[in-house]
Formats: sequence, structure tokens, C-alpha cells
Amino acid sequence: MNISIIGTGYVGLPTGVGFASLGHNVCCIDKNIDKVERLNKGQIDIYEDNLKELFDKTVQEGKLTFAYSIKEGIQNADLVILAVGTPTEPNTNKADLTYIKEASKEIAECEIDRHIVIAIKSTVPVGTGDMVEEIINNENCDIVSMPEFLREGFALHDFFNPDRIVIGTNSEKAKNLLQQLYQDKNVLFTDRRSSELIKYASNAFLALKIHYINEIADLCEKAGANVEFVAKGMGLDSRIGNKFLNAGIGFGGSCFPKDTKALLETSKEFDSKMSLVDTVINGNNFRKMKIAKKIADKAKELNPHGEKQIRIAIYGLAFKNNTDDCRESPAIEIIQHLLNEKDLILEVYDPKANENAKKILGDKVNYYECPKLCAYAVDMLVILTEWEEFKNLDYKLILTSMRDDILLDYRNLLDEEEMKSIGFKYERIGKKYD
Ligand SMILES: NC(=O)c1ccc[n+]([C@@H]2O[C@H](COP(=O)([O-])OP(=O)(O)OC[C@H]3O[C@@H](n4cnc5c(N)ncnc54)[C@H](O)[C@@H]3O)[C@@H](O)[C@H]2O)c1
Repeated sequence: MNISIIGTGYVGLPTGVGFASLGHNVCCIDKNIDKVERLNKGQIDIYEDNLKELFDKTVQEGKLTFAYSIKEGIQNADLVILAVGTPTEPNTNKADLTYIKEASKEIAECEIDRHIVIAIKSTVPVGTGDMVEEIINNENCDIVSMPEFLREGFALHDFFNPDRIVIGTNSEKAKNLLQQLYQDKNVLFTDRRSSELIKYASNAFLALKIHYINEIADLCEKAGANVEFVAKGMGLDSRIGNKFLNAGIGFGGSCFPKDTKALLETSKEFDSKMSLVDTVINGNNFRKMKIAKKIADKAKELNPHGEKQIRIAIYGLAFKNNTDDCRESPAIEIIQHLLNEKDLILEVYDPKANENAKKILGDKVNYYECPKLCAYAVDMLVILTEWEEFKNLDYKLILTSMRDDILLDYRNLLDEEEMKSIGFKYERIGKKYD
């Protein structure tokens, strides 16, 4: 099949590489000319496991090409996938559909005279398919909702092994084409509006689950219980399931924060109440402030008279492990809160996200390429992203180079007994410490 993908970011590129590796002819289109030039030179901007290897292979086989003009990029397409960004509008909490509108107008100008399917993979509010249909205004084009559920950091894994493919359309022609594409997959066909809403309802539910376990963690800290036992016990109930029950520093990333806000706005537009989502958004914002305060309070304990500067090493800047994405990263937001505190020096390390973090934090913190150097002569070490790498560091050596011995493991990543036996004053989330 000839597939064109408009928007070559965290969704568009892995999706393009994935389809190309399955033998389809894929053209990845992006309006960012520099990005397209880099792609043509074999350089990719994002970090995803195994992406570079499969990218090189599919380009070499001639299955994956690039364009910055939609007109050029979709001229042979049977299927056009829209994967442009839908961030939050600058002054509201609504989804910003500017990129969707721009791309749709450009498709309209192509005056397509054969049947093609245009699938909206971007996360868009209910009714956006109707708007795109109006803009393109061409009977040869079937506008379909096909939301994306991949997880950053596991994008290719999820491309090849999706839990489900959701396709919202009433067009038999579109259904036939997409059935051909996903013949071995678990496909749920729905109407377009339901499909659009499935994506938001899913993300908001996951965000809600995270926030719920974080509130349970707070209660555990006060009541002398352990959130990890509580989560394990809850997760053994198949009605609840054990995923997304890791207490931590709050959710972030390019999806949950913006999608919960957009869903709430949609509910207001339709005069329908979503008080749970409202609570989750506010509670999650508060959580990052609360975690920052916990860190700052620990620092104050070391510096009761405000005489010295406290050096804190922070491991993890990306919003989660296995990605370099710092968009709405809770680690970055916590650092921003800490930067408002007096007498703190922040040393930071992330295996992949230092460069993206620099774009947000600039030179207000000190960046390191090596975790051991980052922790050298610090008073406290704080873990804010759950990278596997952090589990396997030589913490004995790290402790010997530190000025003081506090380790705040706010992703519950390390073995508490081991860290205590090494000599750390160790704390994690969801447990009472005196
Ligand atoms: N990132 C994720 O994990 C994820 C998961 C599921 C769904 N989504 C949704 O997928 C969509 C894309 O997300 P992303 O993270 O890949 O975004 P991104 O910002 O990484 O990439 C979007 C790309 O689209 C390009 N673009 C914008 N307008 C264009 C136009 N008119 N023509 C050509 N290119 C254009 C941009 O230059 C950019 O490279 C969003 O709606 C997001 O909510 C993202």
C-alpha cells in the first residue's frame, strides 16, 4: 500500500518506519524543512528503542522516503495519516487544532481525483473529523478517525503489538482498505465520534488511575502503610489490573496533561459534567509542587540556619523512562519549583534527555553526561525518572563521593534494604518515615 504520513514526530516517524518495514511504500511528510533535510541525511531527532536501526534499513530498501510538501508527499497515496501535533491552545485549555486545519487545507488544495482514505491519528476532540471533512470538501476522500495508543519509549513495540486498533468510520470503502492494512490485528470499528472519544476517555482514565494511587500513597505515608503492598493487593483483582498503579511524582508528558484538559473543555462545550477529570488535573498539578516541597524541606533540614548552599543531584529529566521527551515532564516542573528556593544548587543527569531539558531549563542547572560525576560532592540524590540504568549504578561508590547521605527515590526504583545497608538515609514514595 502507498501510505503518506503528515507529521514526522514521536508518532509519525515510528509509524512510518513500522509500515515501511512491513513492505508498504511510506512517505513521511513534515513542514519542518530542517527536520526533513536531517531525515534525508539519515539523522533522526527523537530517541526510541530500535528506531534508528529499522529507519536505516527501510530507507536503504527504498521503502521510506521524506517530503516537506503535502502536495508532493501524497501524490501516490492510498492512505494519508494525519499525525501532526495537537497541543493545548496558548490561552485556553482546549486542544489547538491549528496544525490539523493547516494540513487539511493543504490536502484540499491537492484536488484529489481518486479514492483515498485520510485517517486522523492525532488526538483530536470529538467532532474534528466533521471539521476536517468540511475543509477538505472532496467526495473522493474518506475521513476516518484512527487514534494512536502507542507509548513513547515503546513506540515500535506497540506499533507491532497493539492492544487494539480503533477505526471510526461508516464508509465501507475505508473499512476495506484499513482491514487490508491491519488484517492480523484486533480491530474495533466504530462511528467516527465514538472513536475520537475513545482516545480521550482512555487517556483520562489512565491519568485518573495514576492520580488515585498517588493519593493512596499520601494516605499510606500518614497511616503507616506501604503503597506498594496496597497496589499489589489491588492489582491482583482482575477487574482493577496491576498496570498504572506505581505511585510517583505525578503524570506528565505530551499526552495526559493536554488530553485531560481538552476532555474537560469538550465536556463543558457539551454541557456535560466531568468532575473526576477536573479533580485529577488539579490534584496532579498540586502533586508536583508537593514533591518539590518535600525535597526542599529535606534540604532545609540540612541547612537549618541558611548558612550554606545545598547541592542536589537529580537523576532523570524525561517525563518517563526510555524517551528523551521532556514535554510537561514532572521532573522538569519539580526542578522549576526548586529553582524558586534559596540556596539550592541543582546538578542533573538523564541518559537521553539532557539536550531537550536544556531547551526548557537553560543554564539554571548543571548538566552531566555521567551519573557518578553528577552526584559528586552533593548533599542529596533524588531520582525523578524511572530509567532502568539507575537500578544498576554503583551506589556504594556514589555514596563515598557525596558530601551527605540522603537518597530520595521518588520512583520507588531501588531496593530499600540494599540502599540502607550501603549507608544512605533513604526514602521512597508511599511509606512512612520518622
Ligand atoms: N507522543 C505520543 O506518545 C502520542 C501517543 C498517542 C497519540 N499522540 C498524538 O499524536 C499527535 C502527534 O504527536 P507527536 O508527539 O508525534 O507530535 P510531535 O510534535 O512530535 O510531531 C508533530 C509533527 O508534525 C509536524 N507538523 C505540524 N503541522 C504540519 C503540517 N501542516 N504539515 C506537515 N507536518 C506538520 C511538526 O513539524 C512535527 O514534526 C498528537 O495529536 C498527540 O496527541 C501522541
